[in-house]
Amino acid sequence: MSDQSPMTPFEHAFHESGERHERIWIFIVLILLAIFTIGSMFYVVFDYSLVTKSAGNFPTVQKALSESTLPEGKAVQTGPNAYTVYIVGRMWRWAPGPIHVKAGVPITFRVTSADVLHGFEVQGTDINLTAVPGQIGHVTHTFKHPGVYHIICNEYCGLMHHAMVTPIIVEGETAQ
Ligand code: CUA
Repeated sequence: MSDQSPMTPFEHAFHESGERHERIWIFIVLILLAIFTIGSMFYVVFDYSLVTKSAGNFPTVQKALSESTLPEGKAVQTGPNAYTVYIVGRMWRWAPGPIHVKAGVPITFRVTSADVLHGFEVQGTDINLTAVPGQIGHVTHTFKHPGVYHIICNEYCGLMHHAMVTPIIVEGETAQ
């Protein structure tokens, strides 16, 4: 025998307000989700422009690529003690192939993409920028220790994304 007594006026009011609070909180959560979703989209756009804003904008991919031809696998000497390496990311490799540079010398990497976004990251260093089609980003780094460093891709770019690895061979003495 269950005792199904009807709700008192107080209980009735309590349940009503409970549902109203639930609706309000569901609404607040939806608003927060919308803010986070739209906000993260803005962040992505803003972040990409930060990566490349000082690097110069090129109207077409072709223009960017023609600025970046180089003897394959070599660094181009651009000053008494400065080298530039031009790198093009494309599905799914970093061109040119293995790169040879010297330890203890500032190396500037100028990086673009021939197709989609790629993430230019050199393991064991703080080099990390986005390779954007039509734009050339740059980063300068001095390798203190000789050895083999690997350029990887940290931006998902399709089937063989994980295989986008190119070695940088750093030669010479460990810098003081
Ligand atoms: Cu290129 Cu992932």
